[in-house]
Amino acid sequence: MNLLLLGSGGREHALAWKIAQSPKIERLYIAPGNAGTSTVGENVSLKVDDFLGIKAFCLCNKIDMVVVGPEDPLVKGIYDYFQNDAEVCHIPVIGPSKKGAVLEGSKDFAKGFMQRHGIPTAAYRTFNGNMLEEGFQFLENLQPPYVLKADGLCAGKGVLILPTLEEAKKELREMLGGMFGNASSRVVIEEFMSGIECSVFVLTDGKDYVVLPEAKDYKRIGEGDTGLNTGGMGSVSPVPFATKDWMNKVEDRIIRPTIKGLAEENIDYKGFIFFGLINVNGDPKVIEYNVRMGDPETESVMLRIKSDLVDLFEGVATQTLGQRRIEIDDRSAVCVMLVSGGYPGHYEKGYPIEGLDQVEGSIVFHAGTTIKDHQVVTNGGRVIAVSSYGATKEKALKKSFQEAQKIKFEKKYFRSDIGADL
Ligand code: AMP
Ligand code: GLY
Repeated sequence: MNLLLLGSGGREHALAWKIAQSPKIERLYIAPGNAGTSTVGENVSLKVDDFLGIKAFCLCNKIDMVVVGPEDPLVKGIYDYFQNDAEVCHIPVIGPSKKGAVLEGSKDFAKGFMQRHGIPTAAYRTFNGNMLEEGFQFLENLQPPYVLKADGLCAGKGVLILPTLEEAKKELREMLGGMFGNASSRVVIEEFMSGIECSVFVLTDGKDYVVLPEAKDYKRIGEGDTGLNTGGMGSVSPVPFATKDWMNKVEDRIIRPTIKGLAEENIDYKGFIFFGLINVNGDPKVIEYNVRMGDPETESVMLRIKSDLVDLFEGVATQTLGQRRIEIDDRSAVCVMLVSGGYPGHYEKGYPIEGLDQVEGSIVFHAGTTIKDHQVVTNGGRVIAVSSYGATKEKALKKSFQEAQKIKFEKKYFRSDIGADL
């Protein structure tokens, strides 16, 4: 079959790498892709939310399936666009409907959904611009630190955790006053939960599901989890505290009620669900839902899936996932992200990347790269993920750190303590 994958990050390179291994694939296209995806498929110069352009490309190139990497086209309704168009409604889109994507697109909707279906999460209330005083009162009854979340999508910047009541009130006023534009016209205030986080992923056809390997990601720029939040500096799979027992709790209390809840609310959902979980004294609770795979989790999770991912996608598209099994590699897989100096603040682009051909025994996934005058150059904050297998996570990490030294570009930075806390 011919498959079109949408997106351009490390997540998409890892997905493309895995998809390309399927014997079912004749041609793999990635739109818009990056320098790395062009080594496993063909890049197509199309924006992920150019639905008209994507449709035309699919018709011209006899595309049999569209897989969506990032949330943006899902929230904008690419699934519905295909379903409602007579010329492309036969092409399955792996990703939820617009209604399903609201699980990520609105924190208030996600919290309400969890409440309706008894899914464990932090206590909360939602406030709009007319409810500032009520918001202050709600904050006064919480214990510090205070968690404020813009309702809408803010490219990962919409969550603030404030140590004092004063700061929380100030930020609430600013958020409701338009700090994140329309995205913060409503703000969710919730109870702070203390514990270690873990990302759990499933692929669902709306009835059945398979659980993918779980992973932990490292969000802060600095070692020892300090400094500003980033898109993710590395990931480790499996996660030691995600034991069989713990994962059973996750399935019973979170995964099954979520999929049942989606069906009960008539939400068409055929794609990935990413459960951002926190382990609170042995009990998993949901911090957030995402309607896509995680990045950089995908860059370790894909290494551990032994089954044919395209076969699982076919199960999703035809609602026969219940007849398929997922086989998982017992080894550990990790990824270490090489980023541009200055990220997540200001950084330069366009530095030549050397040494990619020196890497041996690790897998290099491109995140922010492009090709300029036949040379791979940096083109983003997160540049390259170095992923490795190992009998243990320590061995896998040692390998990634060792290979990461061979890749050179100006102002390269990476965290050398990925996985050290586990
Ligand atoms: P979110 O975008 O909802 O995943 O939030 C971003 C990050 O903020 C999460 O990954 C957590 O590290 C943190 N966070 C969000 N909500 C809470 C909470 N209720 N308690 C503790 N930490 C939280
Ligand atoms: N790694 C977290 C995310 O993809 O949102």
